Amino acid sequence: MKTIYETIDPAEVDTPRAQAILEKAGEIIRAGGLVAFPTETVYGLGGDAENREASKKIYAAKGRPSDNPLIVHICALDQLKEIAAEYTEDMGRLAQAFWPGPLTIIVNSSGLIPHETTGGLDTVAVRFPSHPVANALIRVSGRTIAAPSANTSGRPSPTEAAHVRDDLDGKIDMIIDGGHVDIGLESTIVDLTEEAPTILRPGYITPDDVKRVLGACRIDPGITQENTHVRPKAPGMRYRHYAPKAHLTIIEGGRQQVLKALATKAEESAAGGAKTAVICSAEAAEALKAKTTGIEIITIGAEGNDDEIAANLFAVLRKCDDDGVERIFSESYEDGRIGGAIMNRLIKAAGHDIITV
Ligand code: TXA
Ligand code: MG
Repeated sequence: MKTIYETIDPAEVDTPRAQAILEKAGEIIRAGGLVAFPTETVYGLGGDAENREASKKIYAAKGRPSDNPLIVHICALDQLKEIAAEYTEDMGRLAQAFWPGPLTIIVNSSGLIPHETTGGLDTVAVRFPSHPVANALIRVSGRTIAAPSANTSGRPSPTEAAHVRDDLDGKIDMIIDGGHVDIGLESTIVDLTEEAPTILRPGYITPDDVKRVLGACRIDPGITQENTHVRPKAPGMRYRHYAPKAHLTIIEGGRQQVLKALATKAEESAAGGAKTAVICSAEAAEALKAKTTGIEIITIGAEGNDDEIAANLFAVLRKCDDDGVERIFSESYEDGRIGGAIMNRLIKAAGHDIITV
């Protein structure tokens, strides 16, 4: 199949040109086809959420196991009321506080969304994105849109249209390029079908944010670093994920010790003949460039700038793949409001290989 490429400036979705592109995209969705589009978190691969065949196509294009449910994207609160078996006060509170925005809510299903979309579950993940292009696409299509991240299963999520093209060119009907996404980490998932509200995937909205609104919030024990043997509730969090092709090791500890260990370990690896890269802050990059040779130093953002580090994380992991890197060493980035969400992805990418110095 030939994939159509179009560009929409998120600041200009109301122009006739953008509207014409969105009309065409909406037609594709209504006809059961697939359109990749930008959201504030990562790019999504969208299809009509109520169309079983469209969901099957999404799994096929991504090479994703069909027991891993999709998120249903909406553009009005009324759509949540139709999708959920019952509309609860907690849903209203979360919607009021965080929608439109980077939050996904798991609710009991009314049965409207087919099992092909929910991976056979009787619960549904629902998200109301704030990105103007995502919002306009859902509205113009007249449907709710099932959309996983628009990457090949197992690869880092796409934060620019070029990443989507690399993974899905020729496999989907259309890609809408809306530039680099804002946040760069997938949405926070909150499960409201349990006794207490539970975070199934950390993201830009933190457990404290949710707690402030609902009075309580626990974290799925399956996703915390200490419990590598507990099964996460979100099926997608069980798979190897976010992984670059190279083996990645995280080095944590005091600043000077980490710098020294990054330099030594990377030089050892390079001397052994492996194409080696270091992922680090701009400040550390400066120090390492002066100290090492033959190693690719990749800057992820300014030290301590969690928003910038999150926005660059997946692109940096993809760059390692593009450059044919075989061995990666990275600093650790737990500082800041969303440090926990960043480390959740990085630790998975490293397959839990962490050295403390
Ligand atoms: O930011 C995002 O959420 C992006 C953009 C495109 O909106 N989408 C995204 O979708 O990250 P995906 O499919 O890559 O991740 C969805 C996650 C998976 O881990 C999946 O297992 C989980 O949500 N999930 C979906 N429905 C669920 C359900 N009913 N119960 C538990 N987990 C669910
Ligand atoms: Mg994904």
